[in-house]
Amino acid sequence: MSKQNIIICSDLRYDLEKVISSHKYDKLFILTDNNTFCNCLPAIESITPIQNATHITIGAGDINKTLDTLSQVWLKLSQNGATRHSLMINLGGGMVTDLGGFAAATFKRGISFINIPTTLLSMVDAAVGGKTGINFNGLKNEIGSFAPASEVIIDSEFLKTSDYENLMSGYAEMLKHGLISTTENWKELIKFDFDNDIDYKSLQSIIGKSVAIKENIVEQDPCEKGIRKALNLGHTIGHALESFALKSEHPSLHGYAVAWGIVCELYLSHVKSGFPKEILRQTVAFIKEHYGILNFSCKNYDELYELMTHDKKNESSSSVNFTLLSDIGKININQTASKEDIFESLDFYCETMG
Ligand code: GLY
Repeated sequence: MSKQNIIICSDLRYDLEKVISSHKYDKLFILTDNNTFCNCLPAIESITPIQNATHITIGAGDINKTLDTLSQVWLKLSQNGATRHSLMINLGGGMVTDLGGFAAATFKRGISFINIPTTLLSMVDAAVGGKTGINFNGLKNEIGSFAPASEVIIDSEFLKTSDYENLMSGYAEMLKHGLISTTENWKELIKFDFDNDIDYKSLQSIIGKSVAIKENIVEQDPCEKGIRKALNLGHTIGHALESFALKSEHPSLHGYAVAWGIVCELYLSHVKSGFPKEILRQTVAFIKEHYGILNFSCKNYDELYELMTHDKKNESSSSVNFTLLSDIGKININQTASKEDIFESLDFYCETMG
């Protein structure tokens, strides 16, 4: 898989114009959803190549990450004369960059695309690393391919209009990157000040570091055969909690479920791999303060365990696969835990977070 060029930008219009002019293309397409069409496109529409681009706009939200929407995008590309030498820009959150990336990767066996993520979650996770796809048959990201954008342009200006919940949702993935990298990075993340006016310059700087951590891992293992599984920390239990919350009246944002999953999986890391107690304590305190709690009790443990056994990361249906840590940056992939261990980690969550 070729490497993506990540640009942490200070002047979006200037950087984008430069990036576009570095491509040889016949037609330019720009994909937005209803929200980014109104709220984010104005930031770039004055530059000449965008004025000449064909716009494709899809419905916002995960509910539209479907085969039907994908086929609408293919149709627009086809009807507007896209060729193998066309270029597509995906402007939006993870849904737009995932679906748009997959549309580009498959149209005429693949056209180049540029991602401009507009949410923190897509800046630090979805838009980088080359995973593209759509939901199918009720399953998230069931159809897709590894297809890197040629460039990912990250501008934290977009975050100034983000609500707190979406900011914290993306921040959970950054916290995960801190835990799988260095103590210095983790410390910087848990002391970032969200209580007063957010310092977007500092945020842009830690976003850059976070993306570099992910890129480094993806470069070593683009197709998730080995070390890329480090990026699954917090996600085995996190996905189960996300699905559980979805069925309740209080669905949670992806990053919130990941943060709660990190609480449980760091506990498992402590018990099974000797992860330091003090780092566990400080991380749990940060998550409790910034993410609150998803309420469940021991009556829900069997249902949560059942959801974990269906996780697509498992090697077999009878074991649950985890990425655990023996310290910050000391990663153990392909770990399993017994039902008793998992229930104990859920007990830990209820006792410390409740
Ligand atoms: N979101 C995890 C990965 O890109 O591998």
